[in-house]
Amino acid sequence: MNSSHLPSAVRSEHAADACTSVHSMHLRVNGQRHDIEIPSWVTLLDLLRERLHLTGTKKGCDHGQCGACTVLADGQRINACLTLAVMQEGVDITTVEGLPALAGEEASGNGLHPLQQAFMDHDAFQCGYCTPGQLCSAVGLLNEGGARTADDMRERMSGNLCRCGAYPQIVQAVSQIAGIRVKSAAFPGSAGPLTESQP
Ligand code: FES
Ligand code: FES
Repeated sequence: MNSSHLPSAVRSEHAADACTSVHSMHLRVNGQRHDIEIPSWVTLLDLLRERLHLTGTKKGCDHGQCGACTVLADGQRINACLTLAVMQEGVDITTVEGLPALAGEEASGNGLHPLQQAFMDHDAFQCGYCTPGQLCSAVGLLNEGGARTADDMRERMSGNLCRCGAYPQIVQAVSQIAGIRVKSAAFPGSAGPLTESQP
């Protein structure tokens, strides 16, 4: 029956049911399958943090503006705050906790993904709040084929904000793994000269 023919009290009850309906779904997170029941309105970010306790993925703006919640969905970077968990049915999600396993044999001696090691080597963080998102975004960038220049990389990482202003070091770290030589990295948006060369 078309719900518009129902009395308004019944219509609102139907609407409330739709909002609170619980869905059964499965997805893989960092290689582990999860069969879960979840209300349709829960975001992937809240699923990861509140239900699966993977708190490496950060909540910054919760509106798709800061990139702190970036994760990989089937290898592509997405903002976990902008997608509902139920939309990720059957998808392979990788969070910052899963990056070392993703690196496989390329993991460094201390078990870190090469990008994590590069971030440490270049001091590419201060408070570290944006770092999980920066790392996942950079892995996604590499999956997309990388960047040809540091400017290209800056542009394609521009959805990931860093309130501490660690941009020059982030550029150095990602460039090292992407194979771009950056001699002096200018702050994004500055008019300073950028010296770089391809390997
Ligand atoms: Fe998702 Fe800011 S928390 S983009
Ligand atoms: Fe603090 Fe980026 S290191 S926000």
